[in-house]
Amino acid sequence: MIIGRSEAEADMRKILLINYKAYKESFDRGIEIARAASKISKETGVEVIVAPPFTMIKDTKGIVKTIAQGVDEVDPGAFTAHITWYEVKESGAAGTLLNHSEKRYTYSKGGEIAYDALKQAVDRCKAAGLETYVCVQNIEEARRVAEMEPTAVAYEPPELIGGNISVTSAHPDIVRGFADMIKKSSRSVPLIGAGVKTAEDAMKSVELGAEGVLVASGIILAADFEDAIRRLASAMSDHERTLLS
Ligand code: G3P
Repeated sequence: MIIGRSEAEADMRKILLINYKAYKESFDRGIEIARAASKISKETGVEVIVAPPFTMIKDTKGIVKTIAQGVDEVDPGAFTAHITWYEVKESGAAGTLLNHSEKRYTYSKGGEIAYDALKQAVDRCKAAGLETYVCVQNIEEARRVAEMEPTAVAYEPPELIGGNISVTSAHPDIVRGFADMIKKSSRSVPLIGAGVKTAEDAMKSVELGAEGVLVASGIILAADFEDAIRRLASAMSDHERTLLS
């Protein structure tokens, strides 16, 4: 069955999701990055979201929409060093990334996704009112994850993460096919990421059908992070204005 999204949902704001990862710079200037994100979100109309380290969620949540970088699939209990949906919810985050390539839900190291555990995590987050942004490495994973109906599915080919070649230049056909498939088969939002650095990369992502981008090094490691956020967000909102004119 084709579920498909309503026109109103399709008309939603574009998303710029800034993943702080565990960069030293994230701890050193994460609050300033969140302030810049909030300012530019208001300027451009693009929904800028930050995913800081867990210990910083309480500091950024009052500044700009904040999500966690991941949760384990377990409920609160005797699970030392696990992160639960409950902790994330209590910290004030609006949701969480899940299954990022640097923290995959797998049965074994480098193995295939543990779909049952991932679905448990998605369902537990949803039940708690948390948004879920689930990362995938390819179309097959995207198809399986879309069936879980998370808030967003984010396609990020691992070999391009942290580099200077954007997924939109390396795999435009896959990006287009991915966005198309997600929109036709689910209510999830298609996002893309990996190597996104320039305004052209961001604009291309929207042209190819994505509803937004995930960016880490292009912002966190930039000499002028505010300028980097503004260039990426403006490119996505300029593209929308061109379409409407
Ligand atoms: O989650 C976003 C991330 O994996 C992409 O990293 O450094 O290529 O923007 P980067």
